[in-house]
This record gives sequence, C-alpha cells and structure tokens, in this order.
Amino acid sequence: MPWKPSDTLLTAKPEVRTGMVAIRLEEERDAAEIRDLLEACFPGFGEADLVDTLRRDGDIVLSLSAEDEGVVVGYIAFSRVNVEGEDGTAPAVALAPLAVYTEYQQQGIATRLVREGHACLAAMGETLSVVVGEPGYYNRFGYSHRRATYFESDYQSPYLMALSFGAAPWEGRLVYPQAFAALSDDAADAALQADDRV
Ligand SMILES: CC(C)(COP(=O)(O)OP(=O)(O)OC[C@H]1O[C@@H](n2cnc3c(N)ncnc32)[C@H](O)[C@@H]1OP(=O)(O)O)[C@@H](O)C(=O)NCCC(=O)NCCS
Repeated sequence: MPWKPSDTLLTAKPEVRTGMVAIRLEEERDAAEIRDLLEACFPGFGEADLVDTLRRDGDIVLSLSAEDEGVVVGYIAFSRVNVEGEDGTAPAVALAPLAVYTEYQQQGIATRLVREGHACLAAMGETLSVVVGEPGYYNRFGYSHRRATYFESDYQSPYLMALSFGAAPWEGRLVYPQAFAALSDDAADAALQADDRV
C-alpha cells in the first residue's frame, strides 16, 4: 500500500470553503468520476488511462479533487519522477493531469488545485515539480522553462517547465513513471491520425 499524505497537510480544510467548491485529497470512491472528468476534458482516453495506471502502479505522490455537492469537478495529480544525475538520483514530481469541467472553468478552481498541491508538496518535503504544458498558464504559478533548461528529457522543449520549493537539482535525466510511455504513444497515434485526416 503506497504511503498517502494525511488531510492535515491541506492548508484549506474542506469545511473552510472559498466559494462552493471544496478542495480535498483524492479518495478511493472518486476514481470513476475522475475518469469521467478526464475523458470529458481531454481528447481520447490517454489522460484517463494515465491516472488509472499511475494509481495502480503506486506512482501518485499527491492527488487532489475539487468537489461540488458530492461530485468531482476538478482534479490534479503529481506523480513520482526521478532526476538521475552524476551524483545520484533525486526525487521530484510531475504535475499531470490538471482538469476542470468546462462549466466550472474561469472560477479559479484549477488555480486552487495547483496552489493547494504545491503547499501540500512543500509540507511533505518535496522540492521540485515539473510540468509539460502551456507556459502562458503555468508561469503564473512560478513554473519556468529556464528552471528546466538543463534537464535531459524526452519532453525537453519550451513546454517543459519546472518549479522548485527548496534545494533541488538543476540538471540530470528526468525519469517519468512507466505510465507516461503509453501517453506518449497515444499522443503519437493521435498525431498520426490527424495527419491522415489532412
Ligand atoms: C486548464 C484548466 C485546468 C484551467 O481550469 P480553470 O479552473 O478554468 O482555471 P482558473 O480559473 O484557475 O484559471 C483561468 C485562467 O487560465 C487561463 N487558461 C486556461 N487554459 C489555458 C491555456 N491552455 N493556456 C493559457 N491559459 C489558459 C484562462 O485564460 C484564465 O486566465 P485569466 O486568469 O488570465 O483570465 C481547464 O481549462 C481545463 O481543464 N482544460 C482542459 C484540460 C487541460 O488543457 N488541462 C491542462 C493540461 S496542461
């Protein structure tokens, strides 16, 4: 059974709600609703499968659900990445996926998920988070490509960003959980299918 953080890490307790939506740790009963959410928010099943596989493999370090009246309307996961350098291996986390139902967007729910996630991770002693996404979105949380420039990664590009909460490596190879390999294959398949349609 993988170690799970306790509710006491949350800075905003579920009963202290800002707006109607509560941010809390993912619970076992959320799995099906999270799958529905990810299938609705992303094309294909790649992200939904990613989370199911990360969960099965025990690779999720922290995951939070945004809940409105008993229904999961937003979700964020951070999974274990290892930074393999010349002097050894250091732990980091990868933010993926982040999703909020369309009807609930533009209300700051993703912002709360990210910020609450970072606060929990820092309290857990994590020091480095990486993400592959839109710089225009993730820069607001402190992620930058500059912080990730020297990492070796299959995802190395302007979309690879990092944020450190403490002493953490600046270089080394980012080794993602196995579940991400299938996501890359999925993305490659989707790109090929898109090419076929042109
Ligand atoms: C991205 C997402 C999680 C944001 O959720 P949200 O709860 O609406 O986000 P917030 O309300 O906290 O923030 C809204 C801001 O994000 C911006 N934003 C949303 N998607 C963006 C994108 N792809 N690129 C840049 N900015 C984006 C909005 O323009 C808005 O900006 P503003 O604050 O300057 O007005 C949501 O749009 C979503 O689930 N999208 C589909 C899945 C996805 O793309 N996930 C991210 C994977 S990298």
